[in-house]
Amino acid sequence: MTAPATAVAHANIALAKYWGKRDEALALPATSSLSLTLDAFRSTTTVVPDDPEAQAAGADLATLDGAPMTGNSLDRVRRFLDLVREQAGGGGYARVTSTSTVPIGAGLASSASGFAALAGAGARAYGLDLDDRGLSRLARRGSGSACRSVFGGLVVWHAGTDDASSYAEPVPGGEPGGALDPAMAVVVLNPGVKSVSSREAMRRTVQTSPFFAGWVESTERDVMLMLDRVAAGDLAGLGELAESNALRMHATMLGARPPVRYWTGQTVAVLDEVAALRADGLACWATMDAGPNVKVLCAATDLDRVAAALAKGADGDLDRLVITARPGPALSVAGAIA
Ligand code: DP6
Repeated sequence: MTAPATAVAHANIALAKYWGKRDEALALPATSSLSLTLDAFRSTTTVVPDDPEAQAAGADLATLDGAPMTGNSLDRVRRFLDLVREQAGGGGYARVTSTSTVPIGAGLASSASGFAALAGAGARAYGLDLDDRGLSRLARRGSGSACRSVFGGLVVWHAGTDDASSYAEPVPGGEPGGALDPAMAVVVLNPGVKSVSSREAMRRTVQTSPFFAGWVESTERDVMLMLDRVAAGDLAGLGELAESNALRMHATMLGARPPVRYWTGQTVAVLDEVAALRADGLACWATMDAGPNVKVLCAATDLDRVAAALAKGADGDLDRLVITARPGPALSVAGAIA
């Protein structure tokens, strides 16, 4: 039985990063990771199975923010739905309609919310009855970081050793108003499409960076240390580890050949500003992903001050786009159980 379904998922930003796969086909990561799901960035996806036009075309059809998807992005959606149909035991081609509040391809984790929403809507549409862990494992196959967007707040992705053992689950302690009370200011320096995809950059790092082994070892340790800090309600301890872990991820990709460098001069300027705010007594810590933008972790009570300072820049004469975000909710799915 098939029936249309719609799902909403929120993006997440890693505090301990996923960078490198041990198995590309199954999207098994080299390390565990820890993330914060954010309320500000959302993907909403509807899957209409057995769509007549898609059937006539002999393939799934998809739009993102009203524009037809093409090329690699469309191929990834189709491969993912093939996997869903395989697990569901069949079903005809679908029409996929997706909208996103995430600037695509700017290192703001658009694939995480996108594939988490597609996993939720796709599974429901094709009658695949999965619990949250099953949805997390399925979303992982679309994009690794998507397995974390199945859950709200703080989330750990256990690297695992095979398909069954590599999944995410929520970590208590990230709730608004709790001891940590985390929030993020996202400094958008360049909302355009990045030059090297994170998938390709990861592959290159695994294959050529002499620093990769050190990265794997130290990140596994960072995740354990961060979980301790979360349990202790220690935002400063968590933030220091997160900033250090992000720098180590970028160090390992700078060591690849050819090197991968997502930072611009503006990225470094924001890192300086974050250090200066901290020196002034405003607690905040930076993290960066596969793009030039800087995400700044702070307590929710400091969020407006941190965002206002970063919008103006060190000399107070800039007008940067800074998006404020708080912990976001888990994946939600609507539609008849097919
Ligand atoms: C830098 O999940 O986009 O954001 O599994 O190849 O689709 P694929 O990669 P993806 O990589 C995210 C990398 C990161 C760090 C993180 O989110 O942990």
